[in-house]
Amino acid sequence: MTTIIGLAGSLRRGSYNSMLLRAAAELAPEGTAVEIASLRGIPLYDGDVEAAGMPELVTQLKDRIAGADGLLLVTPEYNFSIPGVFKNAIDWLSRPPADIARVFGGRPVALMGATPGRGGTLQAQSAWLPVFRALGVCPWFGPRLLVSGADKVFDSEGRLLDEGIRKNTRDFMSQFSQFIARMAPKGERR
Ligand code: FNR
Repeated sequence: MTTIIGLAGSLRRGSYNSMLLRAAAELAPEGTAVEIASLRGIPLYDGDVEAAGMPELVTQLKDRIAGADGLLLVTPEYNFSIPGVFKNAIDWLSRPPADIARVFGGRPVALMGATPGRGGTLQAQSAWLPVFRALGVCPWFGPRLLVSGADKVFDSEGRLLDEGIRKNTRDFMSQFSQFIARMAPKGERR
């Protein structure tokens, strides 16, 4: 079984990015499980808090990522860039620097995103690239999944209705899973 940790970068109850993450989990191929994690409860990064001891939630999430085969980030776009709440969480997960290689080093990572606007989170997705460089992850650069008009593609229960986006999401998850398989020889996966 290939395990992917999925993180959506919004705390909003009706978050389109959380809906997209749930759709990605549902549409992942057989043999791939997407475990949905949350940013909720992660404090604002503060070096004094870190010096007093890593928050338990951060330690737990780091360990979950370290134990997974891949990481899926579902990013909103704020002011053409990464929402602070999402970047803040990743900043915590990158502490201390000596642990970055265990948590992120060489780990296959994919990005998707949803916005009610027209740009499909393209600029936020691009803004993640220097962060990926800093973390030393292994980004998957397959076809982009840019969901525009997100206020029109989910139903009131948050289910992805648009058949075209469902197909693109299914293809995305299938290709990302194949990428993970290529990156990690079979014997090394759980
Ligand atoms: C936005 N939004 C937005 N959308 C976009 O496509 N490009 C942008 O640059 C911005 N900028 C922006 C800034 C701030 C501060 C907010 C609060 C919002 C709109 C954004 O896409 C919308 O609120 C989404 O619904 C956020 O994602 P979730 O919470 O639905 O997952």
